[in-house]
Amino acid sequence: IGGGTPIPTLKTGRAHPHPEPLSGSLFSAAELMPGDRHVVMLDQRLLPRIERYEIFSRVEQVADAISTMKVRGAPAIGIAAAYGLVLAAGFIEGSRERFLESMQTADKLLRRTRPTAVNLAWALDRMARTVARIAGEAPIQRVLALGAEARAIHSEDVAACRAMGALGAANVRDGATVLTHCNAGALATGGYGTALGVIRAARDAGKKIRVLSAETRPLLQGARLTAWELHKDGIQVETITDSMVASFMARGLIDQVIVGADRVARNGDVANKIGTYGVACLAQLHGIPFDVAAPWSTVDLACPSGADIPIEQRGEREVSHVSIGESEVQIMPDGVRAHNPSFDVTPFRLIRALYTERGTASPLTAETLARLAPSLP
Ligand code: MRU
Repeated sequence: IGGGTPIPTLKTGRAHPHPEPLSGSLFSAAELMPGDRHVVMLDQRLLPRIERYEIFSRVEQVADAISTMKVRGAPAIGIAAAYGLVLAAGFIEGSRERFLESMQTADKLLRRTRPTAVNLAWALDRMARTVARIAGEAPIQRVLALGAEARAIHSEDVAACRAMGALGAANVRDGATVLTHCNAGALATGGYGTALGVIRAARDAGKKIRVLSAETRPLLQGARLTAWELHKDGIQVETITDSMVASFMARGLIDQVIVGADRVARNGDVANKIGTYGVACLAQLHGIPFDVAAPWSTVDLACPSGADIPIEQRGEREVSHVSIGESEVQIMPDGVRAHNPSFDVTPFRLIRALYTERGTASPLTAETLARLAPSLP
């Protein structure tokens, strides 16, 4: 971020060339453009039919992008929120007190967008510490310091993905068929991906991997996003509907499962996209290893167990309608209600290993997780 002028109000849908990804990875979910105070994001709701980058210059636009899931995935929404605070700071010229007050308003706006993925609160807490440290400085210095912190959050996430990818790849057999659920890839992170980072690292280590991507109702992140990014990356990927998982496992067509996470509780329970728990139960029944990959920013040691993780309830329309590009079709009769809990919790007992940038917890228990925790200062 430099001294550029903020772009005035943006029309949604304005096309923008994709910025140079920070990591050299395939896609980055959000990127602060150098020399200008705006953030560019790929509108993930439109994939795979439409690849549209949007430019945001105001924190309100970033908050809206997170809650409407233009940007989604636990690490990605944390990174996006951090950049959102940089944009907010760019509009505050006043005193220390005025700055702190306005930043708190922006923080609150971002914090309430999505409740389950702890990475959002983690990133905002980290930015808040920088805000407190630099509040007394000149406006441009504040923006520069916050920009540096947001970029650090972004680049550290990419490094974490690569580190956990290398650990997880060691447990992926050459020639394996790997099932994944939802999208835990470059789109959902700063780049490279968590679960898909493991798959990428296995591929980069010379292993032949075939991926089955469960479609992930209701928003179809598996069919739309995971299939899209792996296919672009030259990794063999095929989509199955969520309801096919049991039959594929029973027929011996799945060797292992790897998913991402939105929050890992202190006892090792894992919240991830709705449907993950069912896949884990099926994997247990069929003796198939079930692994999770997540950065330490997803681990919430203050949260005792999965029962304490807030589960986001999203609108009924995501279930009653199917979106294709920019149009949507109603698939339910008028007058029938739909349920839409966006996440479920997989008990730690069903998980063989959790890969993080700090190491592997296997079997995943409170004890193996605690061993990876940074020691208190
Ligand atoms: O509702 P979403 O699409 O944000 O949910 C995403 C997931 O559940 C991912 O699996 C999780 O965030 C891990 S992303 C590396």
